[in-house]
Amino acid sequence: MATWDLSTMKHHILLCNGSSCNKAGAEELTQAVRSEISKRNLDNVIHTTRTRCNGRCKDRCVLVVYPFGTWYKEMKAEDAPRLIDSLMMESTTKLNKISHQYNGESFERTVNTVEGVKKTVEKIEKVSKVIVSSENESFYKSN
Ligand code: FES
Repeated sequence: MATWDLSTMKHHILLCNGSSCNKAGAEELTQAVRSEISKRNLDNVIHTTRTRCNGRCKDRCVLVVYPFGTWYKEMKAEDAPRLIDSLMMESTTKLNKISHQYNGESFERTVNTVEGVKKTVEKIEKVSKVIVSSENESFYKSN
């Protein structure tokens, strides 16, 4: 366990380690990204977090970068150096694996990215588990 000082961080990389991404090499991607950050002495500039499913399994392996709100798809371990290059240049032009980019109002999908299923109450209930139900409120936990 750790409580890191985030005050020097410029980027936060969320590495999906959900089951679909894990089957597509998420562990290798996670290790490659972290290794690339360490190799360049960027541990005080780029923070990483493993996550569970981010809800975009067809894009596996999924990786999300903040503060720009950039979602990447089909990421592989060998993409790690170009990803870090892109972040340090504050440009996304070198790594052509963006699936969604925050445009100030919403996440805009790139060409050739699967649209996905619209969220409806029925769909949300189908893919979520109710973990707490009290009075009139229910809280869902994604699978
Ligand atoms: S497991 Fe990574 S998006 Fe679902």
